[in-house]
Amino acid sequence: MIELDRVTKAFGDKTVLAGISASFEPKSVVSLVGPSGGGKTTLLRCLNGLESFDSGTIEIVGETIRPGGEKANRATFARLRGRVGFVFQQWNLFTHRTAIGNIIEAAVHVRGESVSSATSRAKELLAKVGMEEHGAKYPHELSGGQQQRVAIARALAMKPEVLLMDEPTSALDPERVQDVTELLVSLVREGLALVIVSHEMSFVRAISDHVCVLHGGSIVERGAPKDVLGSPKDPRTRAFLGLE
Ligand SMILES: Nc1ncnc2c1ncn2[C@@H]1O[C@H](COP(=O)(O)OP(=O)(O)OP(=O)(O)O)[C@@H](O)[C@H]1O
Ligand SMILES: [Mg+2]
Repeated sequence: MIELDRVTKAFGDKTVLAGISASFEPKSVVSLVGPSGGGKTTLLRCLNGLESFDSGTIEIVGETIRPGGEKANRATFARLRGRVGFVFQQWNLFTHRTAIGNIIEAAVHVRGESVSSATSRAKELLAKVGMEEHGAKYPHELSGGQQQRVAIARALAMKPEVLLMDEPTSALDPERVQDVTELLVSLVREGLALVIVSHEMSFVRAISDHVCVLHGGSIVERGAPKDVLGSPKDPRTRAFLGLE
């Protein structure tokens, strides 16, 4: 479902992705972990064209993204739109729209759904994330955790096949992390694939089928969470987890 082949990226003379190759299964949860600056967000952004890369290829939901960004991939990005969702670390909600307004925006303008059907689906999604009472509120009237849940509902409104999430639990209290974990697991059962960047190892352990440790732009270790997080082999993973 997602296949990276020797993907490289530099910002100026700094290499940020140093030739990443990886293959992620459909209906699965892959987590990207590792120290700050390791390239996690950059890699996630490359998967849906938010960031260009310099060499290699990325195959995702049957499409191939090539180096060169928007210019080289215009038709591909148009086909990918809506099929690969993204939940940003800073949520990026529209401040002048209510929670429901945020959720229906792309469904109406990109997918061409009617306002009434998009709104009823938005209400269902808000209920799924425990936010049914807050649909009429604007982002400034919501807490960080509530805005984060609106951002998740907004991404789901596009019915994506793959959802990319950067630190999806960073503003949630522990009880909500449990709720969001359950919601995401149920979506994966329905066929969604998730790629998650997270610093929260208990969440990563609970939700992931596969964990990749990014360090200095390379995947230095990968595997099942119980192995990678429970008995890591690479010294860089061990250092990241505070084991040595
Ligand atoms: N737009 C940019 N211009 C220049 N350098 C950048 C840019 N975006 C990221 N970088 C650099 O690329 C490297 C990887 O950044 P990235 O955001 O992918 O790391 P990360 O693993 O997500 O870190 P964190 O855990 O802190 O979020 C960092 O050294 C960062 O400073
Ligand atoms: Mg990041």
